[in-house]
Amino acid sequence: FNLVTQPLFSQKTIRDESQVVSYVLPDLLKTRSGKMVRTKRDWEKTRRPELLSLFSENVYGKTPSEKVPMRFVQYDADSNALGGQAIRKQVTVYFGKKGERSMDILLYFPRNVKGSVPVFLGLNFAGNQVVHQDPGITITKRWVRDGVAPVIVEHRATEASRGSQAGDWVVEDILARGYGLATVFCGDLQPDRPDSFNEGVHSLFFKEGQNMPQSDEWGAIGAWAWGLSRAMDYLETDKMVDATKVAVIGHSRLGKAALWAGAQDQRFAMVVSNNSGEGGAAITRRKFGETIEIINKAFPHWFSGNYKQFGGREDALPVDYHELIALIAPRPVYIASASEDWWADPKGEYLSGYYASPAYALYGSEGLSTPELPETNRPTGAGKIGYHLRKGGHTMNRYDWQQYLHFADKWLRR
Ligand code: GCU
Repeated sequence: FNLVTQPLFSQKTIRDESQVVSYVLPDLLKTRSGKMVRTKRDWEKTRRPELLSLFSENVYGKTPSEKVPMRFVQYDADSNALGGQAIRKQVTVYFGKKGERSMDILLYFPRNVKGSVPVFLGLNFAGNQVVHQDPGITITKRWVRDGVAPVIVEHRATEASRGSQAGDWVVEDILARGYGLATVFCGDLQPDRPDSFNEGVHSLFFKEGQNMPQSDEWGAIGAWAWGLSRAMDYLETDKMVDATKVAVIGHSRLGKAALWAGAQDQRFAMVVSNNSGEGGAAITRRKFGETIEIINKAFPHWFSGNYKQFGGREDALPVDYHELIALIAPRPVYIASASEDWWADPKGEYLSGYYASPAYALYGSEGLSTPELPETNRPTGAGKIGYHLRKGGHTMNRYDWQQYLHFADKWLRR
């Protein structure tokens, strides 16, 4: 699927490389107090925690650290799903003492594999039923944002939405390669609109009388990333899952969430960003395509209130997005762009991998070795940072998955 990604504002956007003005990135390996990081110990003790709090305070907002009570209820099992290729399960995760909030996890496992399997975990845009035609998948009853999937009527998913984003998920391919898939609707965590903080998981943490996050508290992306970690809590209890080999993946806004989840939660063994763009993999100081100002105006609920201060003031932001990628080190990370997806700034997405490479070097791991963007459909990165520029538009498709599966074979399976 292809979301409309045209600028909503008259602010001039750069879509031509020659208009990018020079910029200075915050030094990845220099602490706020001016010390240079030389070892992985310095990185882990000082710089990594410092970067995590800078991203929390200035970008995504703080994720609450309190634990909420959780209960897992498996309500569906089919050991002969998808024409016999798969085992399907559906599990509701209840949050809060009385189960005030919940999310549904849809899981597929390859039927012909004995023992636990590595799993891809990702959020979807419009309900679990969009990932496959399978009539056994529960259709979400929750509010769905306009434009994120076909056949949503008055913000409700219809029967016809079943499988409407199957091309983004290629479930059969994933299973055939020996991986499981777990997915959750992002709207279970927080509906994707600015006035829904009372309806999502935020409300579990509100203080008496609070109904909006404070300016340094998490926004929707934070809540979605939190949900990915809670799904991981479940995966750790499921015997069919090899929880040491879970790759977190997401497309676009949900790619931003996957990166933030992977940065914060080191249980994720691999992270995949598909066309995540501004507020995801793209270097924001390039101001190419979408900018901080535009994203905050169009989607005021995604980031923290504090992030609003940096609209048009990119250089004042104490971090840039190569540092988000670096927070994943030394775990494997794959960044993908699409040639027509200028809005997400393919070159900026590539460069964040390149500029994150010194963090991988601290672990003796290779990252990306040249600042030159590779040609279309030429995946690159012999080390733990993979990248490709797919020919085509803003979507996730079979070509993308082929590269992710290949990268996972290389790093998760060994
Ligand atoms: C819009 C938004 C992007 C986002 C995209 C998506 O285009 O501007 O930041 O990534 O939607 O989620 O598809």
